[in-house]
Amino acid sequence: MKVIFGASGHAKEIEFLLRLKSGQQNMTPDFFITDAPFTSSGRTPTITEAEFIYKIKSCSKAVGAYIGIGNSKIRAKIALKFSDYPFISYPNLIADSVMGDFENIELGSGNVLFPAVLMTTDIIIGNHNHFNLNTSISHDCTIGEYNTFSPGVRIAGGVTIGNHSFFGVGACVIDKVVIGDDVIVGAGAVVTTDLTLAGTYVGVPAKKIK
Ligand SMILES: CC(C)(COP(=O)(O)OP(=O)(O)OC[C@H]1O[C@@H](n2cnc3c(N)ncnc32)[C@H](O)[C@@H]1OP(=O)(O)O)[C@@H](O)C(=O)NCCC(=O)NCCS
Repeated sequence: MKVIFGASGHAKEIEFLLRLKSGQQNMTPDFFITDAPFTSSGRTPTITEAEFIYKIKSCSKAVGAYIGIGNSKIRAKIALKFSDYPFISYPNLIADSVMGDFENIELGSGNVLFPAVLMTTDIIIGNHNHFNLNTSISHDCTIGEYNTFSPGVRIAGGVTIGNHSFFGVGACVIDKVVIGDDVIVGAGAVVTTDLTLAGTYVGVPAKKIK
């Protein structure tokens, strides 16, 4: 069984990615799972968390789960909530057009690499990061967990990123910068110095506003 947690825009984009891959492998998702009042895309039915738990308890089949939620704290909450179910796994989802030296990229689980993501070499990536369309990650970067890269983000070589940080559309980070946890980088910002304090940074060069 394949399921997507969430049913909003981000979840629908992940459903689209799975459908793109379903020509080669049986990747079509069975359900969106949400308790929020979202309607499904019309292609995939929506069930509640309680219904999902009932289904997995009664069938105990392997479940491949994708967490289609942009907010990284909610993403983490879901992964934690279902960590006691050993038959639920979080596969990486990598669009066919993604390019990278995957023999020299360490990739955890639950990562989503949208179409046209480019990664070069000697990169270490933890779990549950989402790299949206056309994001690029250069050599020798280390990326923790639950980070979100919006479309068109550029991360130069040797950058270190902690956990739960967010990069808005088109943000750039120059080489060797260290970015901590819970950092929000605004759309179009250029990060030129280490950002070790949690907060919101915007502009060129990026400055803390919150
Ligand atoms: C940085 C960001 C998170 C701030 O959001 P916020 O906390 O709600 O901040 P506000 O909208 O209150 O803006 C605060 C100030 O920063 C300015 N600002 C906000 N975003 C900015 C940006 N990206 N670049 C430059 N200035 C920005 C605002 O104009 C405002 O300035 P003012 O106080 O002089 O009026 C948000 O504006 C942003 O860039 N989000 C990225 C969105 C995105 O890429 N989504 C991808 C979806 S796939």
